[in-house]
Amino acid sequence: MWLRGNDKERIMKGVMKTRALLTLLILLQVGPALATGDQVDTSSGEALARSWCTECHAVTRGNLQSPRPGVPSFTAIARQPSTTTMSIQAFLTTSHPRMPNVKLTPEQLDDIARYILSLRDTR
Ligand code: HEC
Repeated sequence: MWLRGNDKERIMKGVMKTRALLTLLILLQVGPALATGDQVDTSSGEALARSWCTECHAVTRGNLQSPRPGVPSFTAIARQPSTTTMSIQAFLTTSHPRMPNVKLTPEQLDDIARYILSLRDTR
C-alpha cells in the first residue's frame, strides 16, 4: 500500500514523538541511579556499628566523645591519617586487651570499614 506524502510525514512525526518520550522515560529511570552512583552505601555498616559498638564508641558522624573514656570515637578513628580499610579490618580480626573480640563475617568487616571511613570527611 502506498501512503501519500502527508500521511508518511504524520506517521514519522508520531514515531519520533514516541521515541523522544521513551528516551525521556529511560533517562528518568536511570537518572537517579547515575546521580548516586559514586556514593557508597554505608547503611549496613552504620546499623552494625549502632547495635554492636555504641557501648564504648561514639559511632555517629562528627561525634568525638565516646561513652567510655579513653575509647576513640569512630569519627576520630576515621580522621587518623593511618586509618585504612586494611587497618580497621586488621584491628577487628585480632585481639586487644581493652576491646572485646567481635566476630564479624568478611562482608560485615567490609561494611564496618566502609562506614567508619565514610566519617572521615566531616569537619
Ligand atoms: C567494650 C568496649 C568496646 C566495644 C563494644 C567495641 N570497642 Fe572498639 N575499641 C575499644 C577500645 C578500648 C579501643 C582502644 C583499644 C586500643 O587502643 O588498644 C578500641 C579501638 C577500636 C578500633 C581501633 C582504633 C584505632 O585507634 O585505630 C577500632 C577500628 C574499633 N575499636 C572498632 C570497633 C567496632 C567496629 C566495634 C563494634 C563492632 C567496636 N570497636 C566495639 C573498646 C570497644
